[in-house]
Amino acid sequence: MNTIGKAFRVTTWGESHGKALGAVIDGCPANLPLSEEDIQRELDRRRPGYSIFSTPRREPDKVEVLSGIFEGKTTGTPISALVYNKNQRSKDYSKIKDTPRPGHGDYTYYKKYGTYDYRGGGRASGRTTIGHVIGGSIAKKLLEYTYNIRIIGYTIKVGKIKGDFNYYSNPEIFLSSNSNNSINKIIEKIESDPLRCPSSNSQEMIEYVKNAMEMGDSVGGIVELMVLNLPSGVGNPLFSKLSGELSGGIMNINAVKGVEIGRGFQSTELYGSEMNDEYIYKDSIQLKTNNCGGILGGISCGSPLVMRVAIKPTPSISKTQKTVNLKSKKEEDIEIHGRHDPIILPRAIPVIESVVAIVLVDLMIRGGFIHPCNLDINKK
Ligand SMILES: Cc1cc2nc3c(=O)[nH]c(=O)nc-3n(C[C@H](O)[C@H](O)[C@H](O)COP(=O)(O)O)c2cc1C
Repeated sequence: MNTIGKAFRVTTWGESHGKALGAVIDGCPANLPLSEEDIQRELDRRRPGYSIFSTPRREPDKVEVLSGIFEGKTTGTPISALVYNKNQRSKDYSKIKDTPRPGHGDYTYYKKYGTYDYRGGGRASGRTTIGHVIGGSIAKKLLEYTYNIRIIGYTIKVGKIKGDFNYYSNPEIFLSSNSNNSINKIIEKIESDPLRCPSSNSQEMIEYVKNAMEMGDSVGGIVELMVLNLPSGVGNPLFSKLSGELSGGIMNINAVKGVEIGRGFQSTELYGSEMNDEYIYKDSIQLKTNNCGGILGGISCGSPLVMRVAIKPTPSISKTQKTVNLKSKKEEDIEIHGRHDPIILPRAIPVIESVVAIVLVDLMIRGGFIHPCNLDINKK
């Protein structure tokens, strides 16, 4: 229940206010060039303090690799890595000790286990996604090294504010001959924006979040995710469909409330003749459009993968809400003054990218695209 994957297995462990958090990665083939910096780069993208909208909890999130790498390459043995918690302030939470936070996991953990870690939510905390990112950074490196696969996530909607950039408004950017340049420019914009939003109206979204913050409230939004250079043939026809494995993995991330593939829910409004992607021949068989989002019959078709992920507003808010004291059974008011992001999206993006990378590596090893033991054989 703490492991994702079958051939490439990432097991995460640790809590928000425990000593450390980490991951064990089993099934990473040998001879992948890998360093602590590769993992650190991705952890820095999800670290607290990344933007004006991230929690004031000051954590360096410095990774330590304990095993599985020798002379700059993976050895095929389990990779184990951890990050120590440095800035826990458990007393921030003592006031809400017996009063479950609306929207968080406190109440259901209490009903299931008879106890819950009120100090930041324990396993339900956003900090547990450190494990996802440790595993994901290795999976990303593996995808890039073997097939030059790139995964790019960005915000397309915040609350009610819709951005003007998304894949379906600009599909040619991802197809044109000089697309590498345009994609690099988009990535620069994503990584320099506090909401990781490449839209020209991102300032409007920033104001929307600031306004919610002033009211002691939080907001949600939609992330779009692209996978480029994925070969055709990844995924399986029925119970391990690429779409099913990806959405299952993503839906297991805290605060995720929905996943769409390709045109997703919008496809219900289209005629078959509008939704179907016709085939054309340009040196090879290609899809004229990409309404399917790169997946047909549970298998990748060679077009970019396109997914959208709905993320709810951060549950911990300082605005007064009603709860019930678990001991006295009396209704009480609750205000949460710990350190919380007013919007989860910007820091969730590296986490979603990580889970997508883990799912893809797992399916590609199982499907024979990546050698399960030795990448030197893959490269030959
Ligand atoms: C990267 C990330 C950061 C998060 N940060 C917070 C936070 O600061 N405060 C909070 O209340 N919830 C935060 N969450 C959301 C909770 O973890 C989540 O809402 C909670 O576990 C309940 O699970 P559910 O939303 O899936 O029902 C974060 C989630 C992620 C993925």
